[in-house]
Amino acid sequence: MTAKPSTTIRWEQDETGIVTLVLDDPDQSANTMNQAFKDSIAAIADRAEAEQDAIRGIIYTSAKKTFFAGGDLKDMVKAGPEDAQQIFDAAMGIKRSLRRIETLGKPVVAAINGAALGGGYEIALASHHRVALDAPGSKIGLPEVTLGLLPGGGGVARTVRLMGIADALLKVLVQGTQYTPKRALENGLVHELAATPEEMLAKARAFIDANPESKQPWDVPGYKIPGGTPSNPRFAANLPAFPANLKKQLNGAPYPAPRNILAAAVEGSQVDFETALTIESRYFTELVTGQTAKNMIQAFFFDLQAVNSGASRPQGVEPRTVRKVAVLGAGMMGAGIAYSCARAGIEVVLKDVSAEAAAKGKAYSEQLCAKAVSRGRTTQEKADALLALITPTADPADVAGCDAVIEAVFENPELKHKVFQEIQDLVEPDALLCSNTSTLPITALAEGVARPADFIGLHFFSPVDKMPLVEIIKGERTGDEALARAFDLVRQIKKTPIVVNDSRGFFTSRVIGQFINEGVAMVGEGVEPASVEQAAAQAGYPAKVLSLMDELTLTLPRKIRNETRRAIEEAGGTWPGHPSDAVIDRMVDEFGRTGRSGGAGFYDYDENGKRTALWPGLREHFAKPDAAEIPFEDMKERMLFSEALDTVRCLEEGVLTSVADANIGSIMGIGFPAWTGGVLQYINGYEGGLPGFVARARELAATYGDRFLPPALLVEKAERGETFTD
Ligand code: NAI
Repeated sequence: MTAKPSTTIRWEQDETGIVTLVLDDPDQSANTMNQAFKDSIAAIADRAEAEQDAIRGIIYTSAKKTFFAGGDLKDMVKAGPEDAQQIFDAAMGIKRSLRRIETLGKPVVAAINGAALGGGYEIALASHHRVALDAPGSKIGLPEVTLGLLPGGGGVARTVRLMGIADALLKVLVQGTQYTPKRALENGLVHELAATPEEMLAKARAFIDANPESKQPWDVPGYKIPGGTPSNPRFAANLPAFPANLKKQLNGAPYPAPRNILAAAVEGSQVDFETALTIESRYFTELVTGQTAKNMIQAFFFDLQAVNSGASRPQGVEPRTVRKVAVLGAGMMGAGIAYSCARAGIEVVLKDVSAEAAAKGKAYSEQLCAKAVSRGRTTQEKADALLALITPTADPADVAGCDAVIEAVFENPELKHKVFQEIQDLVEPDALLCSNTSTLPITALAEGVARPADFIGLHFFSPVDKMPLVEIIKGERTGDEALARAFDLVRQIKKTPIVVNDSRGFFTSRVIGQFINEGVAMVGEGVEPASVEQAAAQAGYPAKVLSLMDELTLTLPRKIRNETRRAIEEAGGTWPGHPSDAVIDRMVDEFGRTGRSGGAGFYDYDENGKRTALWPGLREHFAKPDAAEIPFEDMKERMLFSEALDTVRCLEEGVLTSVADANIGSIMGIGFPAWTGGVLQYINGYEGGLPGFVARARELAATYGDRFLPPALLVEKAERGETFTD
């Protein structure tokens, strides 16, 4: 029995004996499973038991926009191994209270009025019936895995019993899929939908009227888990496929959550329900107190929120929305940018050199729309409306009225100047001027336009419609007004903006270059190429390093390298060079292998451009039989450290000004492994903290070269006992 009253859940009982439990934490904008909730739900369970004779049924719903947000991440991110018992006890406490309400002998219904993710959906699962309001933007599911966690509020035990182990793992737990209410219904996560809040509550009451004796399926004697459990011989025979598939999916990357989810599901399926809840809490506690969950919560919750809410946006500039944008160049990037803008309801003038080229750019949107309609992700009507917003043209006069310009023509400074000059007097007099250059310094490009203060870099990633990040590059003369407007435009098209200062390769291209160079350098040292690829995969990179190099083409880094070298030497500096340079030069000059677009690179390709196998010639031409073997751990850490160290240099040089931007930019833009929480959180979370990282960097420098020497900023921070935070 608890002495504390319910502060976050209101008890509203009608004359017919239906109790509506209104989730409404007075201290937060969304309900979470914090200490106050734990006390409240225990008090509610006490009262429900004490007054059960007067109760006919129970409805959970919420007074907030979302139904319930989930666990309290502020607490979780601070939890260390010493807090394990407390975390375990808290999880068990909440579960026990929900269980007492679930087994009171009265029908329990969740009236899901908005998003029910994580803990929210776990409350719904502890109900006998789930009615979801079909609200736009509302999401349902258990995405804990994406924060390095597992659902510790009964979500594993109940989904396994609701839909069977296989479906629970595949549809809900291992990917953390977030479903729209409609898709949640189709996949059996909820029982019915409602179009209005009134209808939702009416349906909840109707369920109570019709099912006075309702019970959870697993509380009915003789209940068996759908599809069987490992104690069934036929099921057991198939069981090894799960860990094998998971292993294949993870490719050796260090993500503990999917493994713990699998273990909790399988072990929990072989015992009674109460024991399953305990097993789930053990695996949950292990994750919460570990480093990976902390990293992922920091990045995907706190950093992402800081970045999107405008921590890097200049204060005091009134927000503005873009109505009509001119996209110059309808190639791969321009076509994708046009689609992303139109999807956000912005009118687009898509300009190229000919009407045909512009139409081809629009055809890309037509393809994406057709696909979305055929998959049921949008309606024909909405697709038509989106396409009607895009006007393909070759006539510069059509840009009249545009309040923003995004240039995506060939990577050539003279051409870029020319296209801006062509339209700068035709667009609105204060139109925002953006270039999607991937390598050209913004400050120099700005010199060729009439209003350099309004000129800014807007670096999209390919494929634009899928990639969530945009890197905003501030040139020396870019004004705060332009920066704020660029930021707002990126948010308007629902992407995540990071803000960096101008520099060669900005932040993302420069840092990913380190990763690629390191992988390529290993080939030159005679490392088995397949091991290089495996090291990247096991470090957690979504793209293997040599295959990535082939996609980008080998001639591109060579061009950038030569230009950078020239610039450094012209400024009186010395070009440090990189051990990868010689490998790239030989691949291009001696073997004519320039990457996938050239039909051959580190890999061989068939006539359709499909990758077949690593080029056998690599071993023949680069193998060094006498070379010392490089430990696998060193291979992985050379890739991770090269990027982390260069990011610290970006901070030192003022290219980066925000830790959150670095972490989010590295994960969302250039595939830095998510388990690290981003490139600077990787340093924070390294074994031994910053001093441990510095010591290891020095070790790598002694063996592999001075490029691994820790920058002064890192050494100073380590000495002062600090970490990288904003
Ligand atoms: P692309 O070659 O596919 O397209 C360039 C388009 O510009 C072509 O359709 C061409 O006809 C058009 N164009 C040329 N002159 C023009 C003019 N005077 N007026 C209007 N259009 C003209 O090139 P892509 O890949 O789309 O790249 C465009 C820009 O985006 C480049 O600056 C590139 O560096 C940058 N970028 C590319 C990324 C990538 O992954 N490909 C990533 C991020 C930026």
